[in-house]
Amino acid sequence: MIDKINRLKEEIEDFDITDAQSLEAFRLEYLSRNGKVQDMFKLMGSVPKDQKAAVGKLMNDVKVLAQERFNREKEKLERAQTKQFGPKDDITIPVEPTYTGSYHPLTIALNEIKQIFLRLGFNIADGPELEDDFHNFTALNFPPDHPARDMQDTFFIRRNDTGSKDDLVLRTHTSPVQIRLMKEKNPPIRSIMPGRVFRNEAVTAKSYFQFNQVEGLYVDRSVTMGELIETLVMFARLMYGSDVKYRVRPSFFPFTEPSIEMDIWWNNENGGQWLEILGAGMVDPNVFDAVGVDSEAYTGFAFGMGVDRIAMLRYGIDDIRLLYDNDIRFLNQFKL
Ligand code: DAH
Repeated sequence: MIDKINRLKEEIEDFDITDAQSLEAFRLEYLSRNGKVQDMFKLMGSVPKDQKAAVGKLMNDVKVLAQERFNREKEKLERAQTKQFGPKDDITIPVEPTYTGSYHPLTIALNEIKQIFLRLGFNIADGPELEDDFHNFTALNFPPDHPARDMQDTFFIRRNDTGSKDDLVLRTHTSPVQIRLMKEKNPPIRSIMPGRVFRNEAVTAKSYFQFNQVEGLYVDRSVTMGELIETLVMFARLMYGSDVKYRVRPSFFPFTEPSIEMDIWWNNENGGQWLEILGAGMVDPNVFDAVGVDSEAYTGFAFGMGVDRIAMLRYGIDDIRLLYDNDIRFLNQFKL
């Protein structure tokens, strides 16, 4: 009897379990109701009384052994299936490289600009890239014979020369979004409007037929030029560092009066130079009239800046075309 039990024990230990099928065969053979372990217990009846306790213990050990082997093999198979790390896996084997994406330098620059103006209490608005002449020029106080209305400068998509919504252009700046905003809602308005703009320019290292701008507009009762300059200086400090050297010059735009431009001092190998970073001014009353805002009750300031220039300065990119070629070798350099 003892021999029989020991043989069964060995059998259980040596049973070949390699997959789900052999595991199931093991279970049927030993652990099922008609399995060999149950059969073994049936032999208890023929065991002399004085040996019953000892034999019973042996039998029980075999039963436990079979159940434990089953559990262990089952777990092993499951682990192999879900490819989890186990003692048998070599975690030093090199993995297939995975390639992570990266942000485009324009996106990085734009995100920084957005963060700064969100902090200053501006929200974000946008408008269409295909504009009509009214929004892109007329409502912004461009005279009918302004050179920007020339096909040499502007991509006209449909042209009837009415200066109205019949004429379609690829927007030449983000300023038309100001018009849309003011038509849509009443002041106070405090928004920035990022977007892509288009100009009919020869493609060179310095100019391209598309680029990106961020427009700003603040309209309320008694908005002042002082607040405009305060806002722009704050922007320059947050964008370029608190020790940034800047200057503000008078300028001209049809849609602002007075108009200014802001330059920052950019250090380079040759010492440095002034670089224009934005145009700005107080919203011209003619613009308020075009959108039905009471120019007696409200004043406002506006500004517009180029994003490409900021990204190029920041990363030392000397050819604007690189920003639009989408060459992966270029883009991969801008990991955050
Ligand atoms: N729209 C102008 C441009 O593309 C930039 C600009 C200047 C925008 C003055 C403004 C502004 O809002 O007030 O050159």
